[in-house]
Amino acid sequence: MLVTGGAGYIGSHAVHALRDAGRNVAVIDNLSTGFRFAVPDDVPFYEGDIADSALLARIFAEQGMGDGSGAIMHFAGSIIVPESVAKPLYYYENNTGKSRGLIEAAVAHGVPHILFSSTAATYGVPDVSPVTEQTPTQPINPYGWSKLMTEQMLADTAAAYPLNFCALRYFNVAGADPQVRTGQSTAGATHLIKVAVEAALGKRDAVSIFGTNYDTPDGTGVRDYIHVGDLAAAHVLALDALIAEPSRSLTMNCGYGRGFSVLEVLDAVDRVTGGRIKRVFAGRRAGDPAKLVADSALLRATVPWTPRFDDLETIIEHALAWEEKLPTLRRSAA
Ligand code: UFG
Repeated sequence: MLVTGGAGYIGSHAVHALRDAGRNVAVIDNLSTGFRFAVPDDVPFYEGDIADSALLARIFAEQGMGDGSGAIMHFAGSIIVPESVAKPLYYYENNTGKSRGLIEAAVAHGVPHILFSSTAATYGVPDVSPVTEQTPTQPINPYGWSKLMTEQMLADTAAAYPLNFCALRYFNVAGADPQVRTGQSTAGATHLIKVAVEAALGKRDAVSIFGTNYDTPDGTGVRDYIHVGDLAAAHVLALDALIAEPSRSLTMNCGYGRGFSVLEVLDAVDRVTGGRIKRVFAGRRAGDPAKLVADSALLRATVPWTPRFDDLETIIEHALAWEEKLPTLRRSAA
């Protein structure tokens, strides 16, 4: 099993989940945004780019993949929405073009299963809540398009070759490994829970609240925050589903099916820390939907997924624990 982007936030949690489940796993990561410390030392690590087809061939050979066996979990890619608006062609190359090469390598070598890290950004600004997989996909930025186009390539490839795929559309991923083995390490993060715990630890002065006049109960944006550990567990189960039914491909939302507002998140952080984060009321951020909540019925009906950390305060506690550990890791990695 090869995990692309296994040194990144979600990829590294998937690596731990696979190992915890007793699976063989190797990682390819070019470390452009990932961290070597996020991958356990005993996991075969290939530093390189998924665009390097010779490297992929070597990895498949060394890991005993191909000729109808093995699987790829594909996380490698760029994930910053405003950056995708400023540099669309980079996103179509890094996310879509390189995914095309990876899929081609899987076909050429006979790797039969691909699990793909997709996003709720494929839905754009949906006018329904919760969002099902049948809700029209209407991305509003190149990031969302780059992921949706990869889903389309996978679907077309699965129709033409002996390969099946699962695209998991993540809602708002947050938290960190409960054993504090990995977490979100990117500097300059923009995601609300990461930003809020940084503020709680004094790493930033305040949290800006982007928009207070949305059509939501308290006027702030509502999101479906899913613990990264539960998300990683869903990946292992989805992989099993791909292997069990090689003629079936899947596209599934990953969320809990309930939303919290920005104010509810900040209140929860204050409850967990016993402090009070400074809040700054700011204008809306371009492209933000008022509410984005997953209908996760398909995931729950397809795989035996029982979330273990579907509690906002637990998500925040784990995010805090990782944020406290991070400076030590950064120092020793420097
Ligand atoms: N927010 C703030 N202040 C902040 C950061 C966020 O008020 O400092 C608000 C946002 O306006 C939004 C909510 O908190 O209402 C969540 O924002 P995030 O930036 O944490 O996450 P997004 O919902 O914008 O992003 C998620 C995924 C993206 C994906 C997008 C699709 O993380 O990968 O949904 O809409 F593209």
